[in-house]
Amino acid sequence: GATPARRLIIERCRAAGFPTVRMRRLRYHPAIRQLVQTVRLDPGRWILPLFVHARSEHRVPISSMPGHDQLSLDALREEIEEVRRLGLGGVLLFGIPDHKDPLGSDATSEQGIICRAIRVIKEIAPELLVITDECFCEYTSHGHCGALGKAGAHDTVDNDQTLRMLGWQAVAHARAGADMVAPSGMMDGMVGAIRQALDQAGFTHVPIMSYSAKYASAFYGPFREAAESAPQFGDRRSYQMDPAAAAEQALREVELDLAEGADIVMVKPATSYLDIIRLVKERFPGVPVAAYNVSGEYSMVWAAAEKGWLDLQRVALEMLTAIHRAGADIIITYWAKQAVKWLKQ
Ligand code: PBG
Repeated sequence: GATPARRLIIERCRAAGFPTVRMRRLRYHPAIRQLVQTVRLDPGRWILPLFVHARSEHRVPISSMPGHDQLSLDALREEIEEVRRLGLGGVLLFGIPDHKDPLGSDATSEQGIICRAIRVIKEIAPELLVITDECFCEYTSHGHCGALGKAGAHDTVDNDQTLRMLGWQAVAHARAGADMVAPSGMMDGMVGAIRQALDQAGFTHVPIMSYSAKYASAFYGPFREAAESAPQFGDRRSYQMDPAAAAEQALREVELDLAEGADIVMVKPATSYLDIIRLVKERFPGVPVAAYNVSGEYSMVWAAAEKGWLDLQRVALEMLTAIHRAGADIIITYWAKQAVKWLKQ
């Protein structure tokens, strides 16, 4: 419905061969570009993953993840002193125990590495949001995400026994002072089981950020070195999602988690799954969506930058921008510390 006057202008421009509408007008001035931006990078929406070990070495560099170390409890203290000044949204803890067994008992023990780490953080930075990963792959001798099943390859992990263990783990973390728990094992019913266990133990206020749509991804490669959690046999395809499954399967996962009481839902990995992030955000408006910008997404940028093929800072910030633009409210990212420093420059 253009008015006659407008139609005349369009006619004249067309006759002269010039465009009436020019998208470049909104791009010519830096202040105009800033005016029309909708994605702003905000460290308060980023969560930094940390790896804590129970060994004596202070810091053990993770060779496949430059800038990240496995931390002893003392090194964790230093790290937290730095992190609290950066204004990040929180930290997400992963533990490397000194002892692994088939049931991953360190994970459910109040003397386990994660509970000790939570107490250390809460002692020096009580206001810093501490989120714990609820899973068993770092703690089990076989490296799977729960107790082993009996039914063979299609059932590597016993779902319902693992649900009980997840309840104990979450309660132990909450007792130690965790502010939020994040189940990542892709067990059916994990959110409901953890919600019930937390509520019965008096932690009705502790939210659950569920790894709702977590794919069986090769992008987790460097993490498995970092967390020493590679499966000793088989893979995780009988519980994590198939990247080639219909995108709508992610919506069913999210819907179930919300019905079981999830407060925040997560899509993981992030950059190869931007379509899933967008779909979840559109289908569940008002539900906070997190995205996990995983280890492989971080390490491959570093590797290319070390070869001089990419600009590390610009690529990293562009990825974070894209993940937010796709619909993520929260990003779990190994760039968190560096990105804050870049933004301050
Ligand atoms: C499971 C867990 C994994 C990651 C986070 N939680 C590994 C896996 O599923 O094998 C991967 C994170 C990353 O790659 O950065 N506890």
